Amino acid sequence: MRAVPALLLRNVSLWTPVDEGSARAGRAQGELFHARRGALFCRDGVISAAGEEADVVRALGGRRGGGSAAVEELDCGGRCLIPGFVDPHTHLCFAGSREAEFLQRLQGAEYLQILERGGGILSTVRAVRAASIEELYTQTRERALTCLRHGTTRMEIKSGYGLDTRTELKQLEVIRKIGAETPLAVSATFLGAHAVPEEYRGDAEGYVELLVTEMIPAVRSSGLAVFCDVFCEAGVFTVEQSRRILAAGAAAGMAAKLHADEVHDTGGARLAAELGAVSADHLRAAAEENLRALAAAGVVGVVLPATTYSLRKTHAPARRMVELGLPVAIATDCNPGSSFTQSMPFVLGLAVLELGLSPAEALTAATLNAAYAMGAAERGGSLTAGKDADFILLDGETPGCLAYKAGVPPISGVYRRGIRVAGGEVRG
Ligand code: NIG
Ligand code: FE
Repeated sequence: MRAVPALLLRNVSLWTPVDEGSARAGRAQGELFHARRGALFCRDGVISAAGEEADVVRALGGRRGGGSAAVEELDCGGRCLIPGFVDPHTHLCFAGSREAEFLQRLQGAEYLQILERGGGILSTVRAVRAASIEELYTQTRERALTCLRHGTTRMEIKSGYGLDTRTELKQLEVIRKIGAETPLAVSATFLGAHAVPEEYRGDAEGYVELLVTEMIPAVRSSGLAVFCDVFCEAGVFTVEQSRRILAAGAAAGMAAKLHADEVHDTGGARLAAELGAVSADHLRAAAEENLRALAAAGVVGVVLPATTYSLRKTHAPARRMVELGLPVAIATDCNPGSSFTQSMPFVLGLAVLELGLSPAEALTAATLNAAYAMGAAERGGSLTAGKDADFILLDGETPGCLAYKAGVPPISGVYRRGIRVAGGEVRG
């Protein structure tokens, strides 16, 4: 990617969670660093200094632009500057549409019922198996660029619509290419255990055997995935099957993530705590003692309010999670079935207005905690010297403008590694 040598953003109202080495939990989730008259200086795509403008300019030797002719300087007219969004749970790599199924859901059909009848995830599996790698890439890229325009600079993308070795690897190759050929930073998750494929109907154990003996070793040899995830749910994979799959994933060098207790409390959150997973996601039906166990085990809870919104279900108890000291992250869960949105501002708005998080807690959930939920806090999630220069300029007085200005994200610039990759002209 092209890199500008150096960039100084002046006259910004800078807001960021502070990275002290772990995800922010409890009261700390709602504490942001704020520089009213702030600045950020970055060089070669990395943040050199961020904070009060006077301090940043002093760190540059008192000379704006650091005395180098190659420094671009931008007066941001007092706009808010926040870290780029991190989306730690997406199923962005898919083909086809399930709009007809959405209409069925509006008539009362249940999500898991549709899956049981061979639709849902399995209908997307048919579309992804049938798509060429080029088609799959083109469709996924289009969606990824929409994420970028909505402020996402780093994201996780799962496989899970192949459910056979060849197609799962096809998805993982597309995901790799999205990371290589768009400005987005991408981490891949192997989700071969997303559903039991049609050819193994009634033989979940047989499919688990295939996952453990063939698919996971193949993914390992490809080197294309960093995480292994399982849809641990009634009628999908049991806790025992999930444990076996995730153990095989761990042995193949892939850290665990879980779709846990989304619809029913089957013990997914407890398993995530037992395994010390990187994240436990959904958690709508998780028992409070298991939320406590997650907090004690250092697992990040990923809440997906756009999914519960689209499924018209009660939301996960995010407010309670914060009170229990469980670090909360939020994500789009972008997929063709339960949550078709690429917009982190939309999700952040739901987090504030539906989950009851404060704008500061929600911003932490969408940036630093999200980075921890995908093992990427070394490079992203906060405006900290040494991290990638990924940030967003907002037209608003505080980060609360993201919830206040619903449906039309108040974003005037998105920067990835110091380069403006989306957003209108920024004038002083
Ligand atoms: O996280 N719940 C399982 N997986 C996805 C939905 C995938 C789909 O319906 O295609 C989710 O909501
Ligand atoms: Fe999901």
